[in-house]
Parts: sequence; C-alpha cells; structure tokens
Amino acid sequence: MKPSPLFLILLFLFPTITISISSPLPPTPSPTSSPSSPSSSSSSSSSSLSPLDPNQLKALQSLNIPTSKNPCSQPSFHNATLCDSSKPFTHLISLQLTNCSSYLSLSYTALKSLSTLHSLHLINCPISPIHFPPQLTSSLQSFSSINSFHKLSGVWLSHLANLTDLTLSSLQLKASGPYVILAHMKKLKTLTISHANLTGFLPKYVHSNLTHIDFSGNHLRGTIPTSITMLDSLESLNLSSNGFKGDIPISMGDLISLKNLSLASNSFSGSIPDSISAIPGLVHMDLSSNQLNGTIPKFLSEMRNLKYLNLANNNFHGVVPFNLTFMKRMQVLKVGGNSNLCYNHSILSSKLKLGIAPCDKHGMPMSPPPAKDSSSADDSSDSDYDDSADDDSSSHKKEHHHGPNKVVLGVAIALSSIVFLIVFLILCSKCCR
Ligand SMILES: *[C@@H]1O[C@H](CO)[C@@H](O)[C@H](O)[C@H]1NC(C)=O
Ligand SMILES: *[C@@H]1O[C@H](CO)[C@@H](O)[C@H](O)[C@H]1NC(C)=O
Ligand SMILES: *[C@@H]1O[C@H](CO)[C@@H](O)[C@H](O)[C@H]1NC(C)=O
Ligand SMILES: *[C@@H]1O[C@H](CO)[C@@H](O)[C@H](O)[C@H]1NC(C)=O
Ligand SMILES: *[C@@H]1O[C@H](CO)[C@@H](O)[C@H](O)[C@H]1NC(C)=O
Ligand SMILES: *[C@@H]1O[C@H](CO)[C@@H](O)[C@H](O)[C@H]1NC(C)=O
Ligand SMILES: *[C@@H]1O[C@H](CO)[C@@H](O)[C@H](O)[C@H]1NC(C)=O
Ligand SMILES: *[C@@H]1O[C@H](CO)[C@@H](O)[C@H](O)[C@H]1NC(C)=O
Ligand SMILES: *[C@@H]1O[C@H](CO)[C@@H](O)[C@H](O)[C@H]1NC(C)=O
Ligand SMILES: *[C@@H]1O[C@H](CO)[C@@H](O)[C@H](O)[C@H]1NC(C)=O
Repeated sequence: MKPSPLFLILLFLFPTITISISSPLPPTPSPTSSPSSPSSSSSSSSSSLSPLDPNQLKALQSLNIPTSKNPCSQPSFHNATLCDSSKPFTHLISLQLTNCSSYLSLSYTALKSLSTLHSLHLINCPISPIHFPPQLTSSLQSFSSINSFHKLSGVWLSHLANLTDLTLSSLQLKASGPYVILAHMKKLKTLTISHANLTGFLPKYVHSNLTHIDFSGNHLRGTIPTSITMLDSLESLNLSSNGFKGDIPISMGDLISLKNLSLASNSFSGSIPDSISAIPGLVHMDLSSNQLNGTIPKFLSEMRNLKYLNLANNNFHGVVPFNLTFMKRMQVLKVGGNSNLCYNHSILSSKLKLGIAPCDKHGMPMSPPPAKDSSSADDSSDSDYDDSADDDSSSHKKEHHHGPNKVVLGVAIALSSIVFLIVFLILCSKCCR
C-alpha cells in the first residue's frame, strides 16, 4: 500500500481546495424574490382604498406597470405610483417609470388620462418625447428625466411652466441655452440640468425662488452673471465641468443662504474674493481645477461651518493659512496641484500629506515637491483628506499587512495542494498501469 500516506494528505487538503474554489462565487440572488415582496406586504391596507380611476388603470397597464393589486396601496411596486384620496375613484398624483423596455412608448391617450399627475419621473427609459396634453402640462409640478427622453428640446420643456422641480440628467438636450427652457418657469425651486450637452450662457434673468441650481457637466460658457448672485434663497450652486471663465464675482458674497458651491473644472481666474467670508452657512466649496491665483485667504480657516474645501489644481501661491484646529474640523481638504503653494512645517506636520512642499523662511516652497509627490499630485488630490485618519492610517496599514498575508497563505496552500494532486495522479497512473 504505497500511496496511502499521500492519500491521507490529499484527504486532508481537499476541503481547502474546494473552499478556496467555491468561496469567490457570490450566492446568486433569485431574480423573482424582489418583485414578490412588496406585493405581499401591503395587501392589508388596500382594502380601505378606493379603486383607481379605470382610465388611469388602463394607462398604467399600457406602461407595463403591474395592476393586479391596487397601484395606490403603499408601498407600491418599486414606489412607482402615488395616489390622492379622492372618491369614488382615486387618482394618480405621482408616477415613476424606471428601467423601461425599449419597446415601451407613451401614447397621447395614456398621458391624457394621466393628467392628474403632479410629478412624473423617468429613469433609464429610452422612449421618445411626445407632445404632452395641456392638462398634464399645467398640472405637472415636478418632472425629471434621467437617461431618458433623449433629444428633448428646450421649446418642449419650456411649456412646463408650472414646475417647481426640474431634473434633466444624462441625456442630449436640444436647446440654444438655459434661457429657452427656463424663461416661463416662474415657480421653479430646484433645477438640475447636468450632463446634458447644454450650450450657451447663464440667463441674464432668473426667477428668484430657486434654492438649488446644478448645471454641472455641460458646455456652458461665459461669466457668472449677477442674475445668479441675486438669488438669496440659493442653497446650492453647481457649475462644475463647464467652460465658464472670468473672475469669481465679488457679488458671490450676496448668496447668503449658500451651503454648497462648486465651480470646479472650469477656467475661472483671479483670486478668491473676500466677500465669500460673508456667507455664514457655507459647508462645501469646490474650486478645484481652474486657473485661480493669489494666496489662500485666511478667512477660510475662520468659516465655522466649512467641512469640505477643494482648492486643488490651481495657481495659488504662498503659505496655506491652516492650523491643526482647522484640519481636525475638515472632512475633506485638498490643496495639491498648486506648485507655488507650501505649508509651514512648524505648524503642520508632513504626515498630513497635503500634496504640497514645506515652506522655506521666505514662504516659498522649500524644494520642488519630491518626485513621488509631484507625479502623484492628481492621485493625492483625489484621495480625501481626513485628519482623524492620521492615527487611524497607521492602524489601517497594519491591517492591510495582515490582509495580504492571509491571501498569500491561502494561495500557497491552494498551490501546494494542486501540486500534491498532480504528483498523486502521476503516481497513481504509474501504479495502475
Ligand atoms: C419606497 O419608499 C419608501 C419610503 O420612501 C422606502 O423606505 C422604500 O425602501 C422604497 N421601496 C422601494 C422598493 O424603492
Ligand atoms: C434599474 O436598473 C438598475 C441597473 O440595472 C438597478 O440597479 C435598479 O435597481 C433598477 N431599478 C428598478 C426600480 O428596477
Ligand atoms: C399653472 O397652474 C394654474 C393653476 O394651477 C393654471 O391656471 C395655469 O394655466 C397653469 N399654467 C400653465 C402654463 O399651464
Ligand atoms: C417666492 O417665495 C415667496 C415666499 O416663499 C412667495 O411669497 C412668492 O410668491 C414666491 N414667488 C414665486 C414667483 O413663486
Ligand atoms: C454636443 O453638442 C455639440 C454642440 O452643440 C455637438 O457638436 C455634439 O455632437 C453634441 N454631443 C453629443 C454626444 O450629442
Ligand atoms: C456637482 O456636480 C458634480 C457632477 O454632477 C458632482 O460630482 C458634485 O458632487 C457636485 N458638487 C456639489 C457641491 O453639489
Ligand atoms: C452639500 O455638501 C455636503 C457636504 O459635503 C454633502 O453631504 C451634501 O450632499 C451636499 N448637498 C448637495 C445638494 O450637493
Ligand atoms: C492672477 O491672474 C490674473 C489674470 O488671470 C493676473 O492679472 C494677476 O496679476 C494674477 N495675480 C497674481 C497675484 O499672480
Ligand atoms: C487656528 O486658527 C484659528 C483661526 O485662525 C484660531 O482661532 C485658533 O486659535 C488657531 N488654533 C491654534 C491651535 O493655533
Ligand atoms: C511658521 O510658523 C512660525 C510659528 O508660528 C512662524 O514663526 C514663522 O514665521 C512661520 N513661517 C512662515 C514661512 O510663515
């Protein structure tokens, strides 16, 4: 019985082989489980509901929305529907179409019977925009089209004059500028037109009740007009990734409600205006990847609410005015990619990895940042700075050392057992001949 010791070893190793092979495969979720759960959960509440208007039921069926249970009972299928409580029939006030089939089409008849809708949301629905019935146009308050309704035209949108919320994202807009779309929307509060290939300039006149504006990821150009800085209810302004240029206007400080500001990835130049210090609630400011210059103003370190500050990839120079108290408070602070910027090494430690060089006694960068730093300037500005991670980072590193060791050990065991298996098979084939 020559091979018996080998056999024992193999018996011993076989479980490790099978485990290491089977463990990377995630358990496959059954696709049928998710749709069934919402329908079972809410059958109790549906009894007290009035039935949905039969025409609207028909319209939902034409849109492939399941109607076997009352679509008005909550939570509805994928939260797609929401109804009022009118009698004898309830009516839809909100409809969301998600992940539509490419064969789905909206019919005028269906939309006409859906004219009670206050909100209509389309997400990943590659359907063609059609003319909306006037009743629907006037009743809609909230409309969004995300990766849906490609080739929407500005004129088509401009008819939705009663909107308070408009979201258009990841689609191709056909409009000569934002003005065409917005001119008649006097009630608008939140506006997102992002990644929509929108061209033109910011409008010279904007209705004054806007609280959110997001024009990120378009081809808008020109400067920031005073129409924007007069919006004293504005809480968030995102103009990132466009072709804007010129100074950050001094009137920016008039945006007294502003919390989030991104002007990132444009061609803004000049320095950060002092008026920014007058915005009491500013939490998030991203000015990265522009051509801003001058020194970093000291008032930034005195803005109590600031948690996120990105000044990376500009032309700032001089000594960064931040001390450890400030660094502790920040969730994200990025200043890398400013070759003439430096930090005072008697105030800040090099462990903070700011991506800039320490200052000499004249406040100039001591040496060009080490080759490793400058080559990874983009990387270091991408990685969020988190001061509390200063102590943590060393422990993270330790954990990381444990992690790979286990992997290496596992691979070694698996490899050696495969070698054993091959040897055994060779031996076996020789014996059995
Ligand atoms: C539906 O909405 C509720 C509340 O907004 C949420 O808790 C729930 O997760 C949503 N369900 C689905 C399937 O999206
Ligand atoms: C839509 O599809 C995306 C990606 O395929 C998926 O993550 C999401 O859960 C889907 N949503 C619905 C409501 O089916
Ligand atoms: C907006 O709504 C009001 C009443 O809710 C209605 O009288 C008006 O015609 C609507 N405007 C448009 C442009 O549909
Ligand atoms: C703007 O908001 C104010 C106060 O909330 C309101 O009185 C006014 O009617 C609104 N203006 C428009 C055009 O909706
Ligand atoms: C975006 O707009 C530009 C100019 O209007 C046009 O040339 C380009 O083809 C558009 N891009 C896409 C993907 O449609
Ligand atoms: C601005 O928009 C970009 C892209 O859409 C997004 O990544 C970023 O988080 C936004 N910033 C703010 C402050 O809203
Ligand atoms: C504003 O910034 C905060 C902090 O960075 C972030 O959590 C929040 O999502 C942002 N809000 C908007 C509307 O961009
Ligand atoms: C900053 O740039 C502007 C032009 O963009 C220039 O006029 C100005 O002199 C520069 N200031 C400094 C301090 O480099
Ligand atoms: C850090 O700077 C702030 C504002 O400039 C100041 O109030 C605070 O005392 C400074 N903290 C330390 C430890 O120097
Ligand atoms: C760095 O800080 C020390 C102590 O606050 C100060 O004496 C020195 O002048 C500073 N150096 C520069 C270049 O600002």
